[in-house]
Amino acid sequence: MCGIVGYVGDAQAVKFLIEGLSKLEYRGYDSAGIAVYNNDKIRTEKSVGRLAALSEKIENDIPVGTMGIGHTRWATHGRPSDANSHPHMDCHGDFAVVHNGIIENYLALKEELMAKGHVFKSETDTEIVAHLLEEVYDGDFEAAVREVLRQIEGSYALVFMSRRDPGVLICSKQDNPLVIGLGEGENFIASDIPAIIARTRRTYILSDGEMAVVKKDSVSITNHAGEAVTKKVFEVNWNAEAAEKGGYEHFMLKEIHEQPKAVRATISSRIAKDNSAVVLDELKWNKDFLNSFNRIFIVACGTAYHAGLVGKYYIEKMARIPVECDIASEFRYRSPIVDENTLMIVVSQSGETSDTLAALKEAKRLGAKTLAVTNVVGSSIAREADQVVYTWAGPEIAVASTKAYTTQLIVMLLLGLYMAGIRETMPQERITELIRGLREIPTQIGQTLEDEDPIKTFAKQYGFNEDVFFIGRSLDYAVALEGSLKLKEISYIHAEAYAAGELKHGTLALIVDSIPVIALATQKSVYEKTLSNIKEVKARDAVVIGIASADDTELEKYVDHVIKVPETDELLIPLLAVVPLQLLAYYAAITRGCDVDKPRNLAKSVTVE
Ligand code: F6R
Repeated sequence: MCGIVGYVGDAQAVKFLIEGLSKLEYRGYDSAGIAVYNNDKIRTEKSVGRLAALSEKIENDIPVGTMGIGHTRWATHGRPSDANSHPHMDCHGDFAVVHNGIIENYLALKEELMAKGHVFKSETDTEIVAHLLEEVYDGDFEAAVREVLRQIEGSYALVFMSRRDPGVLICSKQDNPLVIGLGEGENFIASDIPAIIARTRRTYILSDGEMAVVKKDSVSITNHAGEAVTKKVFEVNWNAEAAEKGGYEHFMLKEIHEQPKAVRATISSRIAKDNSAVVLDELKWNKDFLNSFNRIFIVACGTAYHAGLVGKYYIEKMARIPVECDIASEFRYRSPIVDENTLMIVVSQSGETSDTLAALKEAKRLGAKTLAVTNVVGSSIAREADQVVYTWAGPEIAVASTKAYTTQLIVMLLLGLYMAGIRETMPQERITELIRGLREIPTQIGQTLEDEDPIKTFAKQYGFNEDVFFIGRSLDYAVALEGSLKLKEISYIHAEAYAAGELKHGTLALIVDSIPVIALATQKSVYEKTLSNIKEVKARDAVVIGIASADDTELEKYVDHVIKVPETDELLIPLLAVVPLQLLAYYAAITRGCDVDKPRNLAKSVTVE
């Protein structure tokens, strides 16, 4: 996720570019850059770090010009650096491009362009777009952009600027947002409304496959086939703060709703088109490498640790390698048995958690091979580990992790399938079946998010209880732990998660009349056992909210309420089952008037031990 802006008009472009980018920094903040056209030249200025670093860099020599584009980056391909910052240009400085998204076929295109003599300066996927534009341009800017869009695959919001076509910006989008702000004698382009709201409230919201030619006094929109599209002007009536949250009341709710997109991005380009295998180009492991491990550790904190618990289950079940999952702050202090036959996987959204980083360093010192699963390119953990698989959730602003967790589960699943494919520990048909199911998950998460009303009602009904229990078996237990953490951290309700079979070993003593119990019953292989445990708590007059698969017709006979999630494989259902629990935590916190995005005593990135 990155932020992009564009300006064409009579005023100095830089003012809007910097002002607009500052409102988009929540979309990415590891580097920033601008390109401004003036006097037959495009001048670019870039800087690694936050936007302030760029502003400082140009403050004594501000680029002059009335047309420009800008970008604030959240690294995906290529670490944060000046060279990898956008805008990117072709060989001769004729074209500048800013991009938000992932060009999936960039390697193939890059090779073709290099064979034709193009020299690349960055490690990014975006730079190929500028070179491709140079390659296909023959005097008709619009036709050239259309050809570029025909050749690239993936997700994008792109703005193109040409030295040979002053006064014209062209933009297009596929799966990433883009809005055009309509001014008087000037027009604006941005990833999101907060960037333009101070200048205009009249906008066009571009749809996938549309391309806009933006001049200072006109905007013409066509589809990829070149047919004119008539668009209605969308009048923005949010205030600036609401706009930054995309109209949601809190970042947490926005991020919960971003999960279909985040999950899709994390899967995209990592599964073979014929669904036969997981392709992790970043790893390139083989059988000998994997067979050298007699043990895998997954080490993390908090929500990332809960993702690790699911990872343990996946890897053991699929790849048949023993996995130990450990809390990072405990790992170093218990003399773990780690050597060169150990693979250490650390999971961290921020890539900066000091306990996780310390555990990673310790494992390295003891000779382990190391892999980081993180959301932040170039983070300390990403740099320290031997190898990295990124979750592509985009920046997570709310303290309570949601979309980072689901994308971590995706990576855990991809790793399990990848290792199973290499070690031949799973029948090919089963791998294909799971990959097919995985492809449906983003849409199914979307369906799970469609009806929040029952969850809002439960939150109001039970939001003032001081204790809540979560129970589940197998993968449901791992999800129960995450549901309970979410509820605790943002609503301050005392919540405990238990393996449902453990209740009778102590916890059942706490189950009294009307106490809410959230019972996850999505795992078919242990369904009957879970049902028995649910009956145990019902017999003590608990109020039970069951979480079940859409095809379940049994559970409602035994519980007070049922929340259903779409039907899928039992290995994939944690990706859906966690969503109502996130929403329940969110609405319980709202009911209790808590500060959802900044819960008391907590910080987003924990860089102290
Ligand atoms: C809970 C939450 C935390 C983090 C934990 C690790 O919602 O966000 O429990 O998961 O602090 O943080 P990262 O993943 O950045 O290492």
